[in-house]
Amino acid sequence: MLPNFARPVFYVRNVPVYGDAILSPMDGFSDMPFRLICRELGSAMSYTEFVSVDELLGNMKRAARKLQFDPAERPLTFQIYGHDEERLAQVAQRLERMGPDIIDLNMGCWVSGVSGRGAGAGLLRAPEKIGRIFARLTQTLATPVTGKIRLGWDDATRNHATVARILEDNGASLIAVHGRTKMQAYKGQADWDAIAEVKAAVQIPVLGSGDVKTPADIERMKQYTGVDGVMIGRAAIGNPWIFARKDREQVAWADKAALMRRHLSLNLEFYGPQLGLVLFRKHAARYIADTAEDRDLRLALLTCEQAEQFEEIVERHEMAMA
Ligand SMILES: Cc1cc2nc3c(=O)[nH]c(=O)nc-3n(C[C@H](O)[C@H](O)[C@H](O)COP(=O)(O)O)c2cc1C
Repeated sequence: MLPNFARPVFYVRNVPVYGDAILSPMDGFSDMPFRLICRELGSAMSYTEFVSVDELLGNMKRAARKLQFDPAERPLTFQIYGHDEERLAQVAQRLERMGPDIIDLNMGCWVSGVSGRGAGAGLLRAPEKIGRIFARLTQTLATPVTGKIRLGWDDATRNHATVARILEDNGASLIAVHGRTKMQAYKGQADWDAIAEVKAAVQIPVLGSGDVKTPADIERMKQYTGVDGVMIGRAAIGNPWIFARKDREQVAWADKAALMRRHLSLNLEFYGPQLGLVLFRKHAARYIADTAEDRDLRLALLTCEQAEQFEEIVERHEMAMA
C-alpha cells in the first residue's frame, strides 16, 4: 500500500517533495504522458528526459517538446546536459523563465557520443569543472540546481564521494546517484554501498538509483543506504503501479487495460495521432509483457496502425477475459 505522505519527505532547497519514490529521467520514456501517469500513481516529482544544451540553443522543436510539462507534475525538474560552461549557463538562464521548480545537470550518461565529448558522465573526469559549473549556475539562478551522477568513469577512478562534496560545496540542492560507473553502462549490479557513501558524504538530500525493481526494493534501498528517496527507471516501464507500491502480479487486467487506454490517449494528444501511437508501442509491449500469453493478441496490439484498432483489440480481449 502507498504510504501516506502528509508531510514532505525532503526538500530540494525550498521545494517540498511529498514522497520517496520518483520516476527516473529516461530518454525516450519519461515524456510528459508517462510522467503524468507515474505521478498520478505516486511518483513524488517529475524529471524530464535529458535535453542537450546545444539542441536548445539551436532552438530545435524536439528539444522544446521534451520540456513541455503539466502543472500537475510539479515539482518538475528540467534535466539538461552539455560540457561547455558558457552554454550551460546561458541555457539554464533561458530555461528558468519557463518555470521549472528545479534544474538538473546530467553527469551520468555513458553513451560515447555524449560522455566522449565531456558531457554526461564525461564530466566526472573533470571534478573541478563540475565545481565551476555548479558555482556559476547556483549563483546566477534563483531556481534550485541539482546533479545526477554515476560512481565515476571506471572502477579505477571512482570518485562519487568527492564529486558529491564538490556539488554540495558549490551550491547543489540535491544529488541523485546511479550506482554504476560509466564503463559499466548497465552491466552488473548497482553498488548500493557506494550510494550509501554518497549519502554519508553530504548534508543535502540524496536519491539512489539502480536496480529498484519491486515495491519492497524501495524500502530495502532506503534502509540499506539511508537515502532520502529512490529513483525507479526500467522497472517502472510497463509497471508504473510500482509507485503505488504494487507488484506487476497484483495489477488486474482491467486496470492494465484502463491505464493503457489512458496512456495511449495522452500520447495521441501530446504527439498527434500517428507519432502518438508509434511511440506508445514500446510501452504497450511492456504493459502486456507477462499478461498476454496469447501471441496473436501481442502481435495485434503491437502492430495495429490506428488508435481505434488498438481500442477494439483491448476491448475484445477484455470481454474474452470476463
Ligand atoms: C532507456 C533509458 C534512458 C535513460 N535516460 C536517462 C536520462 O535522460 N537522464 C538520466 O539522468 N538518466 C537516464 N537513464 C538512467 C536512469 O535514470 C537510471 O539512473 C538507470 O536506468 C538505473 O536505474 P534503474 O535500474 O531503475 O533503471 C536512462 C536509462 C534508461 C534505461
